[in-house]
Amino acid sequence: MLDYQTILDEILHEITPYLGEGRVASYIPELARVEPSSFAMSLMCVDGSQFHVGEYEKRFSIQSISKLFTLTLAMQLANDSLWERIGKEPSGTPFNSLVQLEYEHGIPRNPFINAGALVVTDVILSHLQDAHQSVLEFIRTLCAKDDINFDFSVAKSEEQTGFRNHAMANFLKSFNNLEHEPSRVLNAYFHHCSIAMSTQELAKSALFLSNGGIQPWSDAPILNARQTKRINALMLTCGTYDSVGDFAYRVGLPAKSGVGGGILATLPGKFSLCVWSPRLNEKGNSFAGTKALELFTTKTKLSIF
Ligand code: DON
Repeated sequence: MLDYQTILDEILHEITPYLGEGRVASYIPELARVEPSSFAMSLMCVDGSQFHVGEYEKRFSIQSISKLFTLTLAMQLANDSLWERIGKEPSGTPFNSLVQLEYEHGIPRNPFINAGALVVTDVILSHLQDAHQSVLEFIRTLCAKDDINFDFSVAKSEEQTGFRNHAMANFLKSFNNLEHEPSRVLNAYFHHCSIAMSTQELAKSALFLSNGGIQPWSDAPILNARQTKRINALMLTCGTYDSVGDFAYRVGLPAKSGVGGGILATLPGKFSLCVWSPRLNEKGNSFAGTKALELFTTKTKLSIF
């Protein structure tokens, strides 16, 4: 029987030398206001047990981890028709790259790069009038916490400085792969990215991905087993961008990262595991967070491989 609390305590100790490595994202100015050496890790098991270390109740900007929740909601709403407008392959390019979009005729490689998430947001807008509030309410339900909210200063900061995303949405529109006005899609997307959550809340929200699509603590069906398998597969192959191969090699779990420094990982059948540390490596994934996940799967020998 593994003593998860002791393992997390050991990781907290062993990770300390790595907390100064990497850089906090500053291309969204408000994100740079975080304490750079913060660290938290939360493990939630499908049997109801949970273990935490560090600042696991402190909320941070979930950024691209929101792409996991918007994809889940879009799969509920549109199911397989999504894949007529978005691919399922790793991009091999940075999360905010524009180059592939041109020669692939406006079809984003996958739903976890920015272009893919903009199309996912557009799909949500086609089904639900208020994509801001619908996504927020969906996340609140997923973790049974009604005080989860947007960080409006982060959303505004990105709206004012996210020139690449503005270009991307307009580019998608030029290929007729957005039904709505680019500004409307962007405004919803920036708000989704700005949602603030803790590692404890994120791990709880994503537990259905490790339990065949059903939240084990409420028995609520979120997705069917087939859709759940697909999301886990997409996390493994596309969730950590152009370092997805290195991440699978080192950690061996499906995962989704965000430039706020969070990484949310799953082990189907067993647990969800969320880590946060704001300094990023050159690919935009948490430096110490990746190391902590690697230590976890090495110590426990629990990975999908
Ligand atoms: O669109 C952006 O650039 C950010 N709001 C989110 C990017 C992100 O988190 C990618 N993560 N690794």
